[in-house]
Amino acid sequence: MKRSLFPALVAVIVGVYIYAVPPGTTEEIAERIKPFGSVCRVGDDCGSATEVASSGPLSGQAVYDQFCFACHLSGVGGAPLLGDAAQWEPRIAKGIDVLMASTINGLNAMPAKGTCMNCSDEELQAAVDYMLEQVN
Ligand code: HEC
Repeated sequence: MKRSLFPALVAVIVGVYIYAVPPGTTEEIAERIKPFGSVCRVGDDCGSATEVASSGPLSGQAVYDQFCFACHLSGVGGAPLLGDAAQWEPRIAKGIDVLMASTINGLNAMPAKGTCMNCSDEELQAAVDYMLEQVN
């Protein structure tokens, strides 16, 4: 091979390599180009969605501590205070079904679901049960 051709040959080989082989392994490329927010069907291994589902429902106290306390600890907007029998008795007298309807749908300054929009009715029920248990 003539010396003067060598740099040109190297340039062609490097050029073809850069053009034909994108950076990263096949898995890395697949990860980069996979669609955003892929659909998770029943029976699929849905990664973090499965973990969330298997973490189970929140306890009543956990719901209260994350959401309800914001108003019911200090009485924001006239919210009945946790453990204050005088404030809770007239509400308890309405019956648990009415209290649950207020919790799920909201009542005046009490927002629907007490701001826990991802809570199931069972989790909200547990939170109300927890709050009523504190009334002595
Ligand atoms: C943004 C403030 C706020 C948050 C957060 C909040 N509440 Fe309330 N809640 C209120 C207020 C205000 C009232 C009183 C409403 C009224 O009687 O006018 C109330 C009333 C209630 C009542 C009595 C309803 C009735 O019919 O007398 C229940 C039960 C209740 N809340 C449960 C909850 C639960 C459970 C959560 C958390 C999941 C929660 N609240 C979160 C403000 C709040």
